[in-house]
Amino acid sequence: MKKILITGGAGYIGSHTAVVLAEAGLTPVILDDLSNSSESVLGRLEEIIGAKPIFYKGDCNDRAIYEEIAKDHEISGVIHFAAFKAVGESTQLPLKYYRNNIGSLLVLLDFMQDKGIKDIVFSSSCTVYGQPDVLPVTESTPRKDAESPYGNTKKVCEDVLVDFVNSKPGIRAISLRYFNPVGAHPSGKIGELPNGTPNNLIPYITQTAAGIREKITVFGDDYDTPDGSCIRDFIHVMDLADAHMKALDYLSQQEIDFYDVFNVGTGNGNTVLEVINTFEKVNDLKLNYEIGPRRAGDVIKIWADTQKINSVLGWQPSYSLEDSMRDSWNWEKGLK
Ligand SMILES: NC(=O)c1ccc[n+]([C@@H]2O[C@H](COP(=O)([O-])OP(=O)(O)OC[C@H]3O[C@@H](n4cnc5c(N)ncnc54)[C@H](O)[C@@H]3O)[C@@H](O)[C@H]2O)c1
Repeated sequence: MKKILITGGAGYIGSHTAVVLAEAGLTPVILDDLSNSSESVLGRLEEIIGAKPIFYKGDCNDRAIYEEIAKDHEISGVIHFAAFKAVGESTQLPLKYYRNNIGSLLVLLDFMQDKGIKDIVFSSSCTVYGQPDVLPVTESTPRKDAESPYGNTKKVCEDVLVDFVNSKPGIRAISLRYFNPVGAHPSGKIGELPNGTPNNLIPYITQTAAGIREKITVFGDDYDTPDGSCIRDFIHVMDLADAHMKALDYLSQQEIDFYDVFNVGTGNGNTVLEVINTFEKVNDLKLNYEIGPRRAGDVIKIWADTQKINSVLGWQPSYSLEDSMRDSWNWEKGLK
């Protein structure tokens, strides 16, 4: 069975991707320093996939940990999730973000080249588009100046991959630009587990529903959108995980020194208020929310054009926004 190194595999998207890979007959090898995740994920992964996941606790900036993994396992490809992702914190501690997010990719690429590991799927983000002038965004929509050091690390990492592939190192790389990942594994055993106050809407919603937070503030209801609140493209994390599997399959069919980039979204935008209403409806409960002022730096509206990933990778989302809201709540309830 092919072994795939999943950096950040104990985290939100990485753990769901480990499930999809295992179900497709691949062996995930998880490398995580648990800086934003918990070892308890591993036991829950075992319950889902029926086998103890291979796990290394270590820092992706540390070449020695990769050597240890390579001694034990023949790695055929890598999915590089490991990164810090708190936009606000990145403005306070930019060096922490540049060091971790960019530094870890450099160490990993060196390692891959030395060991002849060809394939890498990299976690990028729709944040590279900023507030686009034309919607929906295609992969050729120009990237804008990043709004935060975090966003800039994603742009720089994409550029690193382009420059590296152009130097003909013998690798094949795909950047997946995620839109807004939401939902959880339908079993409720794994999901998003933010440390401290959530930065993202959905954990905020579920924690409010669970009584952990008093209320949700919707930042602005006077934008040029159908109900005035911001629009995002919410993609179920299991569909996102599946896109990584498809990307690895596709990479394996390409010539070496290949790079491409794909949007991963549903192709539909939903307003924040629609999301709140959908959550209330599918879970039959009321959320305490209020309308607050606009928040500086918020992108007003963005959603993906997904034609490229649909046609080239043969990927389609199969979960609805209703499914995401049900699964997110199911996960939160199980945390009590
Ligand atoms: N969740 C989102 O909204 C979103 C959107 C776009 C892109 N992304 C990107 O997707 C990736 C995964 O995001 P996520 O939501 O699963 O985040 P997450 O924080 O849940 O997962 C990241 C994992 O990486 C680990 N990690 C961080 N630095 C590490 C290091 N140096 N060495 C080893 N492990 C390290 C953390 O402990 C964590 O388990 C990140 O690169 C993120 O920037 C996320």
